[in-house]
Amino acid sequence: MSINNNALSTYRLLKATAEVAEKSLEGRIQHYRAHLKSEEKELRTYTQKAAADLLGCNNRTLKRRHDNGDFDDLNIKRGANGHYAYTLVNIFAMADIMDIKPDHRAEDDKLQVIVINSLKGGCGKTTSMVNIAAALATTNIKRYRIGIIDLDPQGSSSSFFPSSEHDPITVGDLMRDCIDLDEGETWPEFVSNSFLPTHIPNIRVLPSGMDDFYFEHETATLLKDTSNYEQTRHYHKLLEKVIDPVKDEFDIILIDTAPTLNFMFYNALMASTAMLIPVHPEAVDFDANNKYLKRLGEIYHTVAALGHNGWDFMQFLVTNYVKGNHSQRDIVKDVRSAFGRQVMSYPINHSSAITASSSSFNTIFDQKASDSLASRESLMRAQENIKDVVDELEMLIRSNWQSTQSSLNTPK
Ligand SMILES: Nc1ncnc2c1ncn2[C@@H]1O[C@H](COP(=O)(O)OP(=O)(O)O)[C@@H](O)[C@H]1O
Ligand SMILES: [Mg+2]
Repeated sequence: MSINNNALSTYRLLKATAEVAEKSLEGRIQHYRAHLKSEEKELRTYTQKAAADLLGCNNRTLKRRHDNGDFDDLNIKRGANGHYAYTLVNIFAMADIMDIKPDHRAEDDKLQVIVINSLKGGCGKTTSMVNIAAALATTNIKRYRIGIIDLDPQGSSSSFFPSSEHDPITVGDLMRDCIDLDEGETWPEFVSNSFLPTHIPNIRVLPSGMDDFYFEHETATLLKDTSNYEQTRHYHKLLEKVIDPVKDEFDIILIDTAPTLNFMFYNALMASTAMLIPVHPEAVDFDANNKYLKRLGEIYHTVAALGHNGWDFMQFLVTNYVKGNHSQRDIVKDVRSAFGRQVMSYPINHSSAITASSSSFNTIFDQKASDSLASRESLMRAQENIKDVVDELEMLIRSNWQSTQSSLNTPK
């Protein structure tokens, strides 16, 4: 096959562009790393008051525990001002010492696999997801075991939870049948080790990589030669190869997706127990969202026919909402009148704190107010806003966990 000259020069141009793009990307990552105090990302530390708040006790109780030597083994460091600077790892260890039990799901309660999807790019999927995950993990003492799967090969949610591994195993690697196990190694162990620890102690991430795009191509090729679904199970890869082997290690798995209805997306649907659909309240975005919803039903039909068990909840989440903007307010009204109780009570508001932290791949819960590029007020407001959203999400999640439900009987 011969390539014509014009195509060849386009190809050369693209190769040159790719090199520039790669250098630029590397530069961005280095620039961002230079902002971090150490090579590995660190989570903010907490004051004694903040630690006491998380532990549900008062300062004096903590002080007494310190005086008794209860926390001596934890080697809690002090900040420049001489006061304790607690890490979240310290606080969780203190909770164990104080006999405050983690509030996980029981074995029989269903693992929650929540997919965040919309066909609209830039509607706030990644931003909302990473901030929700961070809030679920750091603003209470329940110590939920949270897994994040980045199904977007462009990998922006992985960037918020960078791992120290230079070349981590990606979700696509696990789905694409391209792993050779070492002798004695089991698949569940391998998958478990691929969910990497992050700077937040109870969040582990399974990153994406650009090669994950090949999953689409390889699946299409495979399908050309096979007629029987049982031979390929190409919509079950994420569930059967990635999630089932580690399902006992997590309470909640959050899956970020790319804005495409590709094979990866069908896999996300097949693995999902719930769906969160961000809606950015701009007219064009809302129209695009409605078109997407028409398609989603058809697509879900395929997944249902192949054995999916249905969702525990499907919620719309209004994102990046500019308070006081009349046209956005009207659209939110339309969203609410169309979808009623399926819309989360609180929108995620547009926030300069979110913009500022996202620009350095931080969630608004990673940094102390003094390190944030936004004002303290703006950071606090954004944190309260996300906590309101997460409180409702937590309720939806926990309503599927029988063991966490109150056993209060209604009087006869
Ligand atoms: N609540 C918010 N406040 C401020 N900026 C936001 C907010 N939500 C999203 N953004 C910004 O909008 C852009 C797109 O968001 P992103 O989460 O990457 O969308 P998606 O993942 O759907 O493509 C990003 O620049 C992000 O920082
Ligand atoms: Mg995204």
